[in-house]
Amino acid sequence: MFLTAADGAAGLESIDTTVGALFPKTSGPPYAGDMSVFVADCLAGRTALITGGGTGICRGIAHAMLSHGARVCITSRKQEVLDKTAAELADETGGEVIAVAADVRDPDAIAAAVAKTVEAFGALDTVVNGAAGNFLAPAIMLSMNGFKTVIEIDLVGTFNTCKASFEHLKSSGDAVIINISATLQIHGTPLQSHAAAAKAGVDSLTRSLAVEWGSLGIRVNAIAPGPIRDTEGMRRLAPGDAAQRFTKHIPLKRFGEVREIADMAVFLSSSAARYITGAVIVVDGGQSIAVPAFTD
Ligand code: COA
Repeated sequence: MFLTAADGAAGLESIDTTVGALFPKTSGPPYAGDMSVFVADCLAGRTALITGGGTGICRGIAHAMLSHGARVCITSRKQEVLDKTAAELADETGGEVIAVAADVRDPDAIAAAVAKTVEAFGALDTVVNGAAGNFLAPAIMLSMNGFKTVIEIDLVGTFNTCKASFEHLKSSGDAVIINISATLQIHGTPLQSHAAAAKAGVDSLTRSLAVEWGSLGIRVNAIAPGPIRDTEGMRRLAPGDAAQRFTKHIPLKRFGEVREIADMAVFLSSSAARYITGAVIVVDGGQSIAVPAFTD
């Protein structure tokens, strides 16, 4: 027997479809306590280079990788920020971490950071491309250099780092690249023409490199975080009461936590993800698939 549209409509009569019932106001905390769901040494023996690792989401990824046994080099533009973070991470996790300043837009600088990582730890098998720049700007107000700057940091910087790391990743035979993408490029996001174009490029690069490098034992995936609280990105993109307005349209009714992106990074770099490559995994509480007109 086939169901018709009329059957569907009749069925709906017995369901509470009021907005309040569909979208309850509160949800619980992400999870209590500080326990990881992953085995403590699931990344033992791995060595990661994390660009943008001095602050925010990528600092959280560095923390999570160190906590699960990886050795980590964090890199970003400012050595003093990195040194402070590296000292804190070593203290918090007991892991081995070094800090090397490099601008991802400078291929020689990033190649030097890769070389220092290998010199310190003997190998490189995991790369997290998290260095990014962003700000709110209408396209018409954006200078050509403003547009180009974000493309160069997010997209060209990701390419530069992948390329500089390639020979070491290939030698490892069990390597992982994790590109930090976003969700703004999925739809048309106002004031984000520069960053959305850059992240669309990052997603495309993720798939191309996954296909080209898969047979060499290099998996290439991306994580697309939605709004994550207490990050520079959200301070810039959701100032004032914008955070509250955003939350209304997120199916899980809250911003994400850095920890929730870091968990995905641990999973993708672990052997549990050994058959996953070329994927852009959205971690956004459902924000990017919700239709605002229906969540008001
Ligand atoms: N609105 C419009 N244009 C802006 C801008 C803004 N808020 N911020 C920077 N630009 C433009 C500059 O005007 C400049 O263009 P111009 O030469 O035509 O004037 C161009 O972008 C480069 O800016 P500059 O500050 O010289 O580059 P930079 O490399 O030092 O820094 C960023 C650029 C994006 C990295 C900087 O804004 C920054 O430090 N951001 C913090 C990191 C960040 O954004 N983290 C969140 C990631 S989600």
